[in-house]
Amino acid sequence: MSHSDLQAIKASILHCVDDPDRGGSDNIEYFPDGVLITENGIVTSCGSVHSVTVPDSARVIDLTGKLLLPGFVDTHVHYPQVDVIAAYGTQLLEWLERYTFPAEAQFHDEAHAADAAGFFLDELLKNGTTTALVFGSVHPGSVDAFFTEAQSRKLRMICGKVMMDRHAPENLLDTAQSSYDQSRQLIDKWHGKERLGYAVTPRFAPTSTNDQLAMAGKLLREHPELHLHTHMAENTNECDWVASLFPGCEDYLAVYEYYELVRKRSVFAHCIHLSDNAWRRLAKADASVAHCPCSNLFIGSGLFDLRSAQKHKVRVGLGTDVGGGDSFSILRSVNEAYKIQQLQRHTITPEHAFYMATLGGAKALDLDAHIGNFAVGKEADFLVVDEAATPLMARRISTQKTWQERLFTLMMLGDDRCIEQTWIMGKRCQAN
Ligand code: GUN
Ligand code: ZN
Repeated sequence: MSHSDLQAIKASILHCVDDPDRGGSDNIEYFPDGVLITENGIVTSCGSVHSVTVPDSARVIDLTGKLLLPGFVDTHVHYPQVDVIAAYGTQLLEWLERYTFPAEAQFHDEAHAADAAGFFLDELLKNGTTTALVFGSVHPGSVDAFFTEAQSRKLRMICGKVMMDRHAPENLLDTAQSSYDQSRQLIDKWHGKERLGYAVTPRFAPTSTNDQLAMAGKLLREHPELHLHTHMAENTNECDWVASLFPGCEDYLAVYEYYELVRKRSVFAHCIHLSDNAWRRLAKADASVAHCPCSNLFIGSGLFDLRSAQKHKVRVGLGTDVGGGDSFSILRSVNEAYKIQQLQRHTITPEHAFYMATLGGAKALDLDAHIGNFAVGKEADFLVVDEAATPLMARRISTQKTWQERLFTLMMLGDDRCIEQTWIMGKRCQAN
């Protein structure tokens, strides 16, 4: 029998029980004097120290004065783009040609891929992100490198090899058949291994032939439990290009619908330029959207219509979209998401913002059975946050009375400096 690893962490604790837009702020629990009990990396109890009994055999870790949050979820990010972050002066299609494709071409080299994957994951952990849905490059070795690094850190991660057989430099192209074969091999090797999952990852409609999109659909039919991860309706030039490449389809979403890529566990990044009708179809299919505010502003793509997503009850998570996005921080993403809605005369509540960063992201990835909050049985991935990490934050919260006010301050002024510790499966990791 393995030795039980029982521990009780005392701190203030904040987490979502469910979507605050559905049950009001009752769906968020705040325990100023909280305790989180974990055993062998799994949550066994969470609540106020006044109501939870700490077993005598538990190791007590006293973090009084700090705030415990569930790890953040990044629902869309590219690990082979760490070296193009903050690239100057372009919008999507030129940005891909000038910066991104050359950077991704280097991932044929497995040593380069391993180095980038390790750096990328440590950067996520430092920023408080414990689970992500991640693009690899077109090279299958890039996904091997990523999963190897994720596995050694015991992380819950989803990744896939890019499928791309046209409209990119020759050295970055696969074929419909090779993309199918390579994806199949990676699925057999990695999917469901410990905490790892595979996503079928056609880059976006313009870089796949009809044959390749059909292969993506075939992979999903053969493995219905896989995720589908792609981009949609990010930039108006991209939308015009899709309309000219697929004249038989009524809109961008219809291209993916035709190849049976729109279903639960399909995650579409951006979705800025969508009709009301497309929102309705996304909702009906139970597909999810990754909203990437830092990227949408940095490469000038447009203002995401969160109100339509909420109206149609489409699940929305936050994505940093590094390297289109200029930050690894989900806190920075919440800050920009707030401003994007402000510009459209819509206000995100602190509760909803926090939900999107944690449980909402987990639900968007259909991983909420495992992560996203401190419900009993979930995996204990959590953050120890210093709400007064900077003099300005300390000053701002000193006069604030409610947890909602303090949470809003954390999300607007906070970044990696506030993430004091990151814990994975009940163990502190070394990245911070
Ligand atoms: N659309 C197709 N490829 C990409 C990419 O790498 N980044 C972003 N932001 N959009 C894309
Ligand atoms: Zn992207």
